[in-house]
Amino acid sequence: TQLNKESLYQLSEVANEYYQNQLWNTEEGANIGISYFRERSIRDDIIKQFQLGYSPKDWAAFTDFAFNKGYKKEILEQSGLAIFKESSDQGFDRFRERVIFPIHSFSGRVLGFGGRVLQNNVKTAKYINSPESEIYHKSQILYGLFQAKSFIIKEDNCFLVEGYMDVISLYQNGIKNVVASSGTSLTVEQIRLIKRLTNNITVLYDGDQAGIKASFRSIDMILNQEMNVKVLRFPEGEDPDSFAGKHTADEIKIFFKENSKDFIQFKTDVLLKETKGDPIKKASLIRDIVGSIALIKNLIQKEIYIKECSRILDISEQVLFSELAQLTQQNV
Ligand code: CTP
Ligand code: MN
Ligand code: MN
Ligand code: MN
Ligand code: MN
Repeated sequence: TQLNKESLYQLSEVANEYYQNQLWNTEEGANIGISYFRERSIRDDIIKQFQLGYSPKDWAAFTDFAFNKGYKKEILEQSGLAIFKESSDQGFDRFRERVIFPIHSFSGRVLGFGGRVLQNNVKTAKYINSPESEIYHKSQILYGLFQAKSFIIKEDNCFLVEGYMDVISLYQNGIKNVVASSGTSLTVEQIRLIKRLTNNITVLYDGDQAGIKASFRSIDMILNQEMNVKVLRFPEGEDPDSFAGKHTADEIKIFFKENSKDFIQFKTDVLLKETKGDPIKKASLIRDIVGSIALIKNLIQKEIYIKECSRILDISEQVLFSELAQLTQQNV
């Protein structure tokens, strides 16, 4: 209900204030939370702008705080901020001893949180996130969109990354038109959120096998929404955040300019490595790329990409067009 949603918004805002207060105004927050952000080279002004916080070690620090403010078990449970075992009335905090990333709506309301452990290689998940609720639908949210939206319009382009820290690092380095799908595979709803602001997306996934595979899927989804897609590939083992840590802001900007490739060039580069001159593999590569082109609805754009494809792969346009016609027929 609307009333219930309002309570969830309100509680999220209270939690957001609470986690920031823990970070800035407690000894534990300073020793653990601030130190963590310092280690990762995030400036204080960026910590504040993204409203990053800290959740203390105590089992029920926030739960008790919220109880004292008059919030009831039911709403605390719905928000996912507190967890109640079986029918117990004593809840405990979902986020404990983690740095906190609040997740905002397009208009800046806090909808949920992500929390990161302070040390890698511990047994618990590196990140935990708020569960789905009446206000938090993770498939309809892009992390960083609230901070990035005016820059996406200004640049007429949106950089799409995997993670929280990727958004924050790039933003800190002056690339502010950046959002993250936060590890989940990109959805149509997320693409439509970007489409309100620009028709151009540059995908910047991690430089590993999973990242490349995810790029292929995202390319087709973006083309399907009649948008333009480029891809920026990172060196093996790097993600935008780790890359940013090794370069100056100017170097990053130059790298981005020089290495953004249109999707055809990107797919060809990746797939050609695997074909090693094998004609059967090359044929399947061509079908793969033409498959992406088939998703483009604009005929002129389609033709431009077919021409590019013909040039790069050294296959006649005529063959590519007939391949395209076959695929298009199958799609109807
Ligand atoms: N993610 C998650 N739960 C996990 C792992 C990842 O929700 N257990 C999401 C987070 O939003 C994370 C994103 O997927 O930011 C990308 O994951 P990954 O590349 O593994 O993490 P990084 O963002 O690179 O995290 P960090 O740099 O802090 O190690
Ligand atoms: Mn809803
Ligand atoms: Mn990754
Ligand atoms: Mn990563
Ligand atoms: Mn990372």
